[in-house]
Amino acid sequence: MSTKKFNRYTITSALPYANGPVHIGHLAGVYIPADIYARYLRSKGEDVLFIGGSDEHGVPITIRAKKEGTTPQAIVDKYHGIISKSFQELGISFDIYSRTSKQVHFDTSQEFFTKLYENGKFIEQTTEQYFDEKANQFLADRYITGTCPKCGNENAYGDQCEKCGSTLSPTELINPKSTLSGAAPILKTTKHWYLPLDQYEPWLREWILEGHKEWKSNVYGQCKSWIDQGLQPRAVTRDLDWGVPVPLPNSEGKVLYVWFDAPIGYISATKDWASGLGDNPIARDWTVYWKNEDTKLVHFIGKDNIVFHCIIFPAMLKAEGSYILPENVPANEFLNLEGNKISTSRNWAVWLHEYLEEFRHKQDVLRYVLCANAPESKDNDFTWKDFQARNNNELVAIFGNFVNRAVVLTHKYFEGKVPATQDLQPIDLQLIEDLKKYPPQIAEAIENYHFREALALMIDLARTGNKYLAETEPWKLIKTDEKRVKTILNLSLQIAANLAIVCEPFLPFTAAKLNLQLGLSPNKWADAGNSNLLMNGTLLAEPTLLFDKIEDDAIAAQLQKLEQTKIDNDLANAVLAEAKPEIAFDDFGKMDIRVATILEAEKVPKTKKLLKIKLDTGLDQRTVVSGIAEHYEPENIIGQKVCLLANLAPREIKGIPSQGMILMAEGKDGKLSFITPADDKNNGACVN
Ligand code: MF3
Ligand code: ZN
Repeated sequence: MSTKKFNRYTITSALPYANGPVHIGHLAGVYIPADIYARYLRSKGEDVLFIGGSDEHGVPITIRAKKEGTTPQAIVDKYHGIISKSFQELGISFDIYSRTSKQVHFDTSQEFFTKLYENGKFIEQTTEQYFDEKANQFLADRYITGTCPKCGNENAYGDQCEKCGSTLSPTELINPKSTLSGAAPILKTTKHWYLPLDQYEPWLREWILEGHKEWKSNVYGQCKSWIDQGLQPRAVTRDLDWGVPVPLPNSEGKVLYVWFDAPIGYISATKDWASGLGDNPIARDWTVYWKNEDTKLVHFIGKDNIVFHCIIFPAMLKAEGSYILPENVPANEFLNLEGNKISTSRNWAVWLHEYLEEFRHKQDVLRYVLCANAPESKDNDFTWKDFQARNNNELVAIFGNFVNRAVVLTHKYFEGKVPATQDLQPIDLQLIEDLKKYPPQIAEAIENYHFREALALMIDLARTGNKYLAETEPWKLIKTDEKRVKTILNLSLQIAANLAIVCEPFLPFTAAKLNLQLGLSPNKWADAGNSNLLMNGTLLAEPTLLFDKIEDDAIAAQLQKLEQTKIDNDLANAVLAEAKPEIAFDDFGKMDIRVATILEAEKVPKTKKLLKIKLDTGLDQRTVVSGIAEHYEPENIIGQKVCLLANLAPREIKGIPSQGMILMAEGKDGKLSFITPADDKNNGACVN
């Protein structure tokens, strides 16, 4: 681990694409850890700049705009609004939440490109790319579909086949088609600029593989595998009409590749912040956050961004020459939801803006659960049951309960005024000693990006306080030993005051509430560990609960919502049976369909599918053999109302005469279910 001394922190969090809202996977992977880190450092009094912003370029945004019949600008305006509002409500403490459609970003990324261009850092290459003659434009990989050469899927994209998972290049597709016009595209030459990553390979090997062995093993491992496979030149421009124009003559219709301009967005956002406009009224020098060697640059990202932040962006910065490099890139793995991969297109996610609506004033619960389950070293799963359990068993039963008991008892016995300690006993001294150990341990865990461990330590401090109250039982001593009770409550309240400091990076709303309750103004990290934070006689506010129990019905509602998503997806994917040819009304009129009730049912021996069923049809009682044994147990269908095609010519099945046919609905998964009248029709009622 580097022992370099830093005087300043530039903390970036991946700029989310502004083509959809933010979900819990983004939060657990990137924004919550970054926010904990930034808040902790600020509490320590460090000079911190915490950067966020929307990534507003790239092909998917243009595709989304086409689909919705609107412009890319309208799409990014909409989602930038939703995203920035929801981050703010969750308490993500960005110093700036900027966006890459700002002028300052166009200027910054164009200057960056120009400097590299003028210093001969790019290679120019002319290649053949697919061009749509009808739409008169070059086609991004995603705008081309065709047959996958590997598996034959007819709807593979130019960059990937989603059926077999192969990475493709558009020219590999069989029968390529433009999704813009449907036309077969032609190959046309076009010129682009490439960053020759191969030339940076020896330097990257040294800088990462030798110089940053302390990086998380998932990050280090991915870097090593990229470098070992050999790096290729990467195009930094595209033929597209959405993005930052290439600042060179004769390059109409060309823009910077989104992964070239987006990370420069961190720098533009810093300038945006420093400009003295907007939220930050004091103009400052942005360069110290990017060009001073004593500034620690840390990128918070998800694992799909590793190559861009550890290899490509550093190579860009190195080529430019005047910037510092990231000191660490603590990328997380992915969070799943109820055992399935989070998917935007399948709407399999918990969306932040919806959570904030549905769980008002429970920002810290989500922050807590997502940190406790953060996919720090492997993919992890979010479940609503676990969300409820962590709230009820940890936040309510430990943290909230402890603080509430200390405050309530102080009100009950001492008019809400912090009592003085007297004659400390061994158990008190032990508590004071224990308390001292927590802040440095929590600090170390945070500084090493072990946020789950840090959070567990924080809750452990609350547990220690809770246990102290349970063991000393002040409610039993109040009649006989008031002096003791004073000491116990004083120390309990001191622990609560410490919790307000150490929980702040994780649970900022709770910290604020707690300070209010204790009549404290927010303390700094340096005060943590001190068992004298509350002065004797300080008047506490009226007790309020820090956390509320989450009831089963709230959880059931969320699970129901996910169930509905599954149903919607199934419906959207359903392959409907082909329509049958038209028939005359008379043909329909020939069918005698009636309501009937199942009286008896049994398996037909030596068959898998068949049930022998006795029915009351209102006209008679009769037997029907039906192929539903894989869908229903015979004992479960006695009394079931069904619809019966009663005048079907009788036939013998497995030696059993079958008179008619029970009507069934067949789902796309092949599951059969009975057709029953919506209310209680008598047997023999006609269906027509
Ligand atoms: N928009 C990208 C994503 O969501 C992340 C961009 S990070 C930046 O995967 F560095 F490019 F800004
Ligand atoms: Zn395929």
